Amino acid sequence: RTVRLLGAPLDLGADRRGVDIGPRAIRYADIAAELETAGVRCTDSGDLRVPRLEQCDTPATADDAKYLDEIAAVTAELADEVADTIADGDVPIALGGDHATAMGTIRGAARAADIGVLWFDAHGDYNTPDTSPSGNVHGMPLAALTGYGEFDDLDWTAAPTVDPSNTVIVGARRLDDAERLALEESDVTVFTMHDIDERGITAVVEDALDIATDGVDGIHVSLDLDWLDPTVAPGVGTPVRGGVDYREAHAALECVATRDSNTGLLRSADIVEVNPILDRDNRTAEVAAELAASLLGKQIA
Ligand code: ARG
Ligand code: MN
Ligand code: MN
Ligand code: MN
Repeated sequence: RTVRLLGAPLDLGADRRGVDIGPRAIRYADIAAELETAGVRCTDSGDLRVPRLEQCDTPATADDAKYLDEIAAVTAELADEVADTIADGDVPIALGGDHATAMGTIRGAARAADIGVLWFDAHGDYNTPDTSPSGNVHGMPLAALTGYGEFDDLDWTAAPTVDPSNTVIVGARRLDDAERLALEESDVTVFTMHDIDERGITAVVEDALDIATDGVDGIHVSLDLDWLDPTVAPGVGTPVRGGVDYREAHAALECVATRDSNTGLLRSADIVEVNPILDRDNRTAEVAAELAASLLGKQIA
């Protein structure tokens, strides 16, 4: 099996500059060597071209979805690269970049097959341009991908890319009010940190896998590093206390890997929101690289 890394230095979806150097930091943490310890080959097709913020003329403030045009263009290219990678028989892992990256990876993966989505995140990322408190598009990808809300400039959101009933958020602990209501009315499943506290990470992820894989061909795993507790992964733009710890994170991804080794369900992944400027000693990028290896089947002692 071969993993192909796709760098997505996208920072237009988030307020905190610096997430655009996430791909470099994750490579510096030697994700390729980590993946090889999991027994997979690793290739790297470099970085997508992303316009600099300073080159964009969209006003950054008082906009209900900042830089949506530019994000649409970049993620359309990423979707093509992901689809090509899957067509070649490889597993694409996009290195973000902010979480708007997932609009590209998941759309590309969904072109090849019906997929479910596991969304490991402190947040729901289920805002729309009308509900978003920030106008930051990284808080909206899951709504766009499941066909919820009005995204004027994104023609592909007219139909769902993934079925909400195969979409599962794991680890949520901060939802905006309108977002929470919208999720309650949707068919998206939300497992919160409370669920993990009560039932344990393994039981929750096994349930999440059952839901995500029901009636589809495979899954996409979207890993936002703010899913982890900020003591473990401080280098993120929107940290929220009370996240999963290091062992829980590995255990979760090992569950996915075990299910994958039995059924070959993992189609693609993205690793997003690593912000080296806010990080300490590249710790968050190192955790990201190690978690990628767990996802691909590496067992830790
Ligand atoms: N809910 C907030 C917003 O919509 C924060 C979103 C954070 N998303 C992320 N991918 N880190 O602005
Ligand atoms: Mn997110
Ligand atoms: Mn998040
Ligand atoms: Mn609007």
